[in-house]
Amino acid sequence: MSPTWTPDNMPDLKGKVVVVTGSNKGLGIHTVKHLAKHGAKVYCGARSKERFDKAQQQLLEEDTSFPHERLVFLKLDLGNIDSVMDAVKEINAKESSIHILINGAGMVTGQSSKESEWDEVMAVNHIGHFVLTNGLFPLLKAACAEKNSDVRIVSIASNTPGIFLPKNYAFGLTTPTCFHEVVPYYPWRWQYFHSLFFGMDMVHYSIAKVATMLFIKGLQRRVDEHNLPILCLSLNPGGVATDGAEDILKPLFRPLLQVGRLTPDQGSYHSLWAATAKEPRKSSVKFKGNYLEPVGIITTQHPVLDDEKQRQGLWDVTTAEVNRHLDSRGLGSLLEWK
Ligand SMILES: NC(=O)c1ccc[n+]([C@@H]2O[C@H](COP(=O)([O-])OP(=O)(O)OC[C@H]3O[C@@H](n4cnc5c(N)ncnc54)[C@H](OP(=O)(O)O)[C@@H]3O)[C@@H](O)[C@H]2O)c1
Repeated sequence: MSPTWTPDNMPDLKGKVVVVTGSNKGLGIHTVKHLAKHGAKVYCGARSKERFDKAQQQLLEEDTSFPHERLVFLKLDLGNIDSVMDAVKEINAKESSIHILINGAGMVTGQSSKESEWDEVMAVNHIGHFVLTNGLFPLLKAACAEKNSDVRIVSIASNTPGIFLPKNYAFGLTTPTCFHEVVPYYPWRWQYFHSLFFGMDMVHYSIAKVATMLFIKGLQRRVDEHNLPILCLSLNPGGVATDGAEDILKPLFRPLLQVGRLTPDQGSYHSLWAATAKEPRKSSVKFKGNYLEPVGIITTQHPVLDDEKQRQGLWDVTTAEVNRHLDSRGLGSLLEWK
């Protein structure tokens, strides 16, 4: 796939504050690079300062005039709610508004740990981003009040649900069990066919990405109810040659991955388009809440995206689970989305 839109088309982002998760490698580092080059101040959510410094150094080696001072490291482990709350506190202390939030971090396979409260893949792809977005909501809302505001929340999902989950798949996203046992059952196509080729659990990952997409739909509904002009989008970046995508296929089949993949730089284009291009804002009634294939193509990736019961159920159980966790630690509760 060759990209049809490039960051050369991005508007001037001077004065804009952006938060990006998953920003120290893969397509995330190129996302923050282009945002900074166009003038934005970018909070780069990442687990390791060392990895962030290395990535920043690499950007400087490639382009000595890169405005590295516009990148601000934000310590963030999306699998750990305490870390998410600390990151929220830090941004709230430093900024009075946020114009763009890109929930880009993702994980295909987690390490199961008895200490971790939830399944790690679900925690990183969905729960952590739910809590981060909630904590930053007052700042996103504050940006809506600014002159010529154009506030956007973009979450990186994937096209894998349409590949690995049958159209009639019985999801279990309406009960808290889905945060511990994410996969209610494996479709026969996975058991007897796909699993022969794939080295990672793509059913598990796909369900976590469905949660990402349903969150964006639910969020758009809430901001619409409160007449907030925030545009919420989820998208597939395309097939991108990153470390994260390297081990998806079993070693024998990996050469197949080399065909037609985007570079990590090109892989950042779709998120950048969704976050900054004129078109989605101009046609926001058409785009809002939707999942997009590159670039800007509204697609119903899976019928579950139109399932109100799963969408509302997931929203409710996520809220209840997170509030239970926060309450047990004396950290209050999630904010109202208004
Ligand atoms: N590459 C593709 O072909 C493709 C296709 C469809 C969708 N996607 C999605 O695109 C996004 C970026 O993927 P990528 O290919 O660039 O993957 P990647 O190279 O593996 O990068 C993943 C990013 O997520 C961060 N991350 C992982 N766990 C985290 C945690 N607990 N807390 C905070 N950050 C965490 C990583 O940071 P650390 O350095 O801290 O691990 C890294 O910055 C993901 O959401 C992925 O699911 C990718």
